[in-house]
Amino acid sequence: MPDSDNPTEKTLAALGIQDPAAIAAEFAEIRARFDREVTAAQDETSWKQFRDAWLGRKSGVLALITDNWLKPAPPALKRAVGQALNELRGHVEAQIEARRAAIEAAGESAALARERVDLSLPGVRRPIGTHHLIRQTFDELERIFMQIGFSVMDGPEIESAYYNFEALNIPEFHPVRDDMDTFYIDAPPLPNQKPAPGLLLRTHTSPVQIRTMEKRQPPVRVIVPGKVYRRDNPDATHSFMFHQVEGLAVDSDITFCDFAGTIEYFVREFFGPGVKTRFRPSYFPFTEPSVEFDASCVFCGGRGAAASGAACPKCKGSGWIELFGAGMVDPAVYGFVNYDPKRVSGFAFGIGVDRLAMLKYGIDDIQLFFQNDVRFLRQFP
Ligand code: FA5
Repeated sequence: MPDSDNPTEKTLAALGIQDPAAIAAEFAEIRARFDREVTAAQDETSWKQFRDAWLGRKSGVLALITDNWLKPAPPALKRAVGQALNELRGHVEAQIEARRAAIEAAGESAALARERVDLSLPGVRRPIGTHHLIRQTFDELERIFMQIGFSVMDGPEIESAYYNFEALNIPEFHPVRDDMDTFYIDAPPLPNQKPAPGLLLRTHTSPVQIRTMEKRQPPVRVIVPGKVYRRDNPDATHSFMFHQVEGLAVDSDITFCDFAGTIEYFVREFFGPGVKTRFRPSYFPFTEPSVEFDASCVFCGGRGAAASGAACPKCKGSGWIELFGAGMVDPAVYGFVNYDPKRVSGFAFGIGVDRLAMLKYGIDDIQLFFQNDVRFLRQFP
């Protein structure tokens, strides 16, 4: 209150006040001014300013009255001034506190009004997604193989050359590595990395065969679903990242018949009973003998001809479609995992999951799996 007309900055003598009645009138005026101003404080900031203006210890109105009116008051008036000041202080303190409570209550009810939930409003319907077709195919494969005693394993996508190649009987400079040209990673060796230089994005799920046999003794029956990477140029049937399911069964007396029976069971479960199957000789360094496994073409029913009579474009008129590579585990592989090749035998297979799903659902371009176009994805709820 810097204004020089402000009576609280002057003494009572300077104001010409000499009797209790005049003192009471002066206090009444101050109180009336307080009552007029107190309602102007509408929020916490203005309330604090107002409180300091009246109750501030150095220059608040009540401090000024104490210093300028009470202290220098002549003894005859001191009592009246003291009493009036006490009454005014009681009033000011109570009103300022009441104002604070009112501001706080108003804030709370405004917040309540803001946050009020109208339970009668209709809910927000969020669209629920589905599993991607590749995930659905993984699930289907896992279900089929778990029914006949396989369990599910996984392994790292960043793999050492030892597991991806060497321990699978693919030494450095073996020509088969040319078909699996891939992405090497410029990184320091992993702790306990086996003695083959290089880390890479795995080119197949077969390294998990080795990792599994290192950890477990026969009998072993596992499948390994996962992502793999190759430096292949993208086209309708190739992607640089795709999905495989590896299978491995090793025991003391597993024969080629067990292998053929398992694969046939899987193909019938997956494609239905009408599908015929066949093996063709093939080559993988980690299986001997090695085979490619074909199924009769699901598009033309194995006839090799489309409905028009022309050659079926999917199987190119042969009536067969290549499904995956497989074979009996090469005894050389057992040497890398300390299995005795004279006591154990087994089979392994590596299914290309994307191509399998393409065949089953009649999808003619593998790239559709990776473009995330909801019009495509919604067709497989
Ligand atoms: C292998 O990867 C072997 N590891 C499979 C195997 C496992 C053989 C165990 C013996 C024992 P291959 O390179 O043929 O084999 O690949 C297997 C399948 O992956 C193919 O049949 C094909 O379906 C799929 N595939 C291969 N390259 C691609 C690609 N670039 N894009 C999509 N699918 C592919």
